[in-house]
Amino acid sequence: MNIITTVREMQEQMKSIRNAGKTIGFVPTMGYLHEGHLHLVEEAKKQNDVVVMSIFVNPLQFGPNEDFDRYPRDIEGDEKKAETAGVDYLFVPTVSEMYPSEASLNIIVTKRVNVLCGRKRPGHFDGVATVLTKLFHIVSPDRAYFGLKDAQQVAVVKSIVDDLNFPLEIVPVGIVREEDGLAKSSRNVYLTPEERKEAPALYRSLKKAEALIEEGELHTETIIKFISNELQEHTNGKIDYVEIYSYPQLEPIATINGTCIIAIAVQFSKARLIDNIIIEK
Ligand code: PAJ
Repeated sequence: MNIITTVREMQEQMKSIRNAGKTIGFVPTMGYLHEGHLHLVEEAKKQNDVVVMSIFVNPLQFGPNEDFDRYPRDIEGDEKKAETAGVDYLFVPTVSEMYPSEASLNIIVTKRVNVLCGRKRPGHFDGVATVLTKLFHIVSPDRAYFGLKDAQQVAVVKSIVDDLNFPLEIVPVGIVREEDGLAKSSRNVYLTPEERKEAPALYRSLKKAEALIEEGELHTETIIKFISNELQEHTNGKIDYVEIYSYPQLEPIATINGTCIIAIAVQFSKARLIDNIIIEK
């Protein structure tokens, strides 16, 4: 595995791969790798000649009171995991390599951001869009792989790729979970042992809601109340949101119809956990 730290070298290497007629699959991450990230690599390996992963904790997508400084990092462990998973090129730039000077333009995402995490984290998707625009230019992939754990991110990134005509395909990949249903996340390490026991209640509440829908309950307000009660009963976390939208449009709906997302976020003492399911009706 090649480990590259500069934009210039990355661009040169990618150019020679493209000139050799090989396809590039790209997996952008913020590191502290787990099986969710590695599943993206697995999918990328199936469809491309060369797999590139980036590890970059992007300061632009963290709010002033968020966890940028204490976001978990383990670059040595990550290098081993990436290599074992079959990553060919690991791009690990520093903050000053990615943002050497004050930017002369701002990318502001205007659609699909006033709901879910976007509403709770103002500016977050502007930071995600900015770093991905840069990374797509640096890596020039044929396909880029994103987990549906961050389903809003998938919807937002797809629209940016369409708007700006990036010549690449966004490939959504399913959520990888622990045995008890908890979605794998770098932030799960922040959970206290007690919270870790409660955390599977997020997915359980979504699955129960799905069963309710199967039984014929289609009113989103009723389903949202049901999930909120479940979460309140089974966790000591504070509900950040329970929302249902059409997907990927992310528009409000009164009844379940077509492809919809049910998404939740719960704030525990140090970790904010998110989860979702996509329903086809
Ligand atoms: P990060 O949180 O490190 O996640 C990197 C990718 O892994 C994202 O596409 C995310 O959806 C996916 N992922 C995380 N947990 C997953 C799980 N349990 N199952 C499946 N996929 C999972 O998302 C980011 O980084 C950043 O916003 C980034 C896109 C890198 C831009 O900075």
